[in-house]
Amino acid sequence: MNWSPDEHYQSRKVASEYDRKRFASVPGRVFNHLEKRTIVKCFARVPKGQTIADAPCGTGRLAEPLLAAGYRVHGLDISDEMLEIARQRLRGFPGRFACEVVDVKASRPHEPLYDAALCARVLMHFPLDQQVEFLTGVARLSRSIVVINHSLDSGYQRFRRRVKHWLGNQASANYPVSNADIRVLLQQSGLREVQRYRLASLVSEAIYIVAERITPAAESARARQSQSAAAVS
Ligand SMILES: C[S@@+](CC[C@H](N)C(=O)[O-])C[C@H]1O[C@@H](n2cnc3c(N)ncnc32)[C@H](O)[C@@H]1O
Repeated sequence: MNWSPDEHYQSRKVASEYDRKRFASVPGRVFNHLEKRTIVKCFARVPKGQTIADAPCGTGRLAEPLLAAGYRVHGLDISDEMLEIARQRLRGFPGRFACEVVDVKASRPHEPLYDAALCARVLMHFPLDQQVEFLTGVARLSRSIVVINHSLDSGYQRFRRRVKHWLGNQASANYPVSNADIRVLLQQSGLREVQRYRLASLVSEAIYIVAERITPAAESARARQSQSAAAVS
């Protein structure tokens, strides 16, 4: 990899071109629309009016549908240039959108500050140990669930990637993950998968995972649930 995702987006030019370069084509627009819909669905268990941490927020692309759905959003990103685009884009949601420059990999809040968290389109740019570092930072922001988006590395997706490579297309993710990697990533970040969505799986490796924090309270609730399920059966 000859670029650093931590530094690459700290540029006005990159920030101003981000949405147009990725989502202006017809397939890009369709994917963007479907992804926004999927993200809102992933948060269905979070009551409207609660605050979601969007880390990294980037240009506010995914904060927008969450705000439109009735949530409050706090965006965190290492790039003030990306956040400046988000501030402009989301000025129609006064009092419900705020953002700040934070290095999520380095941030370790003592207590979760937000009701839920989103981590989209970033993990696949880092090797697995740095993905754990990033996702641990995000998980510590949330009192309940964390929704992550990733690139799935399956036999079929590897074949698709090879075909794309032969056709001269650049791979979009440097570090896609297998299901085994996902288990390691979630477990080492203090999370457990509760639900998964795929989006156009024949033509896209994108997956969306709803994960809950592994906390003593969540563990006892789970134990109580399995005890009452066992008692009923
Ligand atoms: C590809 S963009 C994704 C933005 C948004 N989530 C989306 O789906 O459109 C990746 C973002 O991650 C941010 N980023 C990279 N390293 C970071 C770090 N250590 N802490 C916080 N943000 C970081 C970049 O600045 C960039 O805005």
